[in-house]
Amino acid sequence: VRPGCALLSLLSSLLLLLLLRLLWCPTDAPARSRLLVDESEEDPQGTSPALRILRSPAPPIPPTTNSTYLDEKSLQLTEKCKNLQSDLNSLFNRTKRQKEDDYLQIITDIQNCPWKRQAEEYENFRAKLTSCCDAIQNFVVSQNNTPIGTNMSYEVESKRTIPIGENIFHMLPASQPFVEYPYKQCAVVGNGGILNNSLCGAEIDKFDFVFRCNIPPTNGNVSKDVGSKTNLVTINPSIIMLKYQNLKKKAEFLQDIATYGDAFLLLPAFSYRANTGPSLKVYHTLRESKARQKVLFFHPKYLKQLGLFWRTKGVDAYRLSTGLMIASVAVEMCENVKLYGFWPFSKTVENTPVSHHYYDNQLPKLGFHKMPKEYSHFLHLHMKGIIKLQFGKCET
Ligand SMILES: *[C@@H]1O[C@H](CO)[C@@H](O)[C@H](O)[C@H]1NC(C)=O
Ligand SMILES: *[C@@H]1O[C@H](CO)[C@@H](O)[C@H](O)[C@H]1NC(C)=O
Ligand SMILES: *[C@@H]1O[C@H](CO)[C@@H](O)[C@H](O)[C@H]1NC(C)=O
Ligand SMILES: *[C@@H]1O[C@H](CO)[C@@H](O)[C@H](O)[C@H]1NC(C)=O
Ligand SMILES: *[C@@H]1O[C@H](CO)[C@@H](O)[C@H](O)[C@H]1NC(C)=O
Repeated sequence: VRPGCALLSLLSSLLLLLLLRLLWCPTDAPARSRLLVDESEEDPQGTSPALRILRSPAPPIPPTTNSTYLDEKSLQLTEKCKNLQSDLNSLFNRTKRQKEDDYLQIITDIQNCPWKRQAEEYENFRAKLTSCCDAIQNFVVSQNNTPIGTNMSYEVESKRTIPIGENIFHMLPASQPFVEYPYKQCAVVGNGGILNNSLCGAEIDKFDFVFRCNIPPTNGNVSKDVGSKTNLVTINPSIIMLKYQNLKKKAEFLQDIATYGDAFLLLPAFSYRANTGPSLKVYHTLRESKARQKVLFFHPKYLKQLGLFWRTKGVDAYRLSTGLMIASVAVEMCENVKLYGFWPFSKTVENTPVSHHYYDNQLPKLGFHKMPKEYSHFLHLHMKGIIKLQFGKCET
């Protein structure tokens, strides 16, 4: 082989690559070149249009200009984004197990569609939640909704009751304690590993009310990603039993929760009988040590009704995840809700592995919550303009 010939073929392959790149990766080019490619492309496999949309990433959002041509194009984009809704529905309705990759493909497409708050949709959804569950009155146990002498039924072990005597009654707030309700801007921060290196901290700290789940770390090197503001944080009694050894590690517990300032600590004290002891113990421990945080208990009836509400929407998990409970509360308590750190997948849309939490990679009990199924409801609410999901890194 002559060296000149090899060089020539190398050069021509490079040229071809360059041409292909220009055609397929118009990163800086106007959106229309991509759309033209999409339109002129014949479908060799004869797949249905819906499937094609599912497989091809949605085009980037065209810049706003007044050209009629681009107006037409953004109309087509809107069509594409509308179709995503039915793509999600059909994935969601499939009886066989949904694949993680199917979800990630849809999420990639959703990310490329513009998000717009839909005030009317928000109000409709809020009204439905209020008529089923009424978080404002019923979300936490209060003296107002639980008079002395009540036999309170447990959420899950519902044949069991606990009498509310003086001792428990005096632990309760007089009425619902969220005095500044409704809050304008609320963030619900999940603990997903997707938050690691997200740099979302500054954005999260700007919200009027920040909800968090299961006393996660917020100080030190994670605060740049998850923020440090907390107004309400849930505590799973199992963390009291396991991590803090039923508060034998009291000093460690008090030190850890000190980072939440005067936030509300919310416990599902009346979901299982086994939850009651550790939850009341948290209350007493905080009182004795004159801690600033206030303890609240999830109302078992509220959680039960919320579970039934989501069941009618197809969430047939044994019990809702804390994230779905709190997001539902937030929709009733707030005017805008944004979710961070909700990511039940093992990798990003770019295929890099994601740890289970932003602070560890401990996996949950299998089959307890139906996370991806719940997640499709979050995607649905996002697409309807009701709540906004932050999928990846924040703009800084
Ligand atoms: C489009 O036109 C309207 C009215 O003609 C004008 O107010 C607006 O600034 C224009 N937008 C852009 C992006 O040029
Ligand atoms: C999926 O199911 C819902 C009701 O559960 C129905 O309204 C919707 O049309 C179904 N979507 C598809 C694509 O079958
Ligand atoms: C609660 O249960 C106790 C004992 O089972 C019963 O005596 C009491 O009347 C009940 N109270 C109410 C309000 O139902
Ligand atoms: C953050 O700090 C924790 C504990 O100090 C450490 O285990 C972890 O590796 C650190 N993470 C990063 C990204 O620096
Ligand atoms: C977060 O990212 C850092 C790299 O920036 C890595 O060292 C750390 O292990 C990650 N944490 C988790 C829990 O995956």
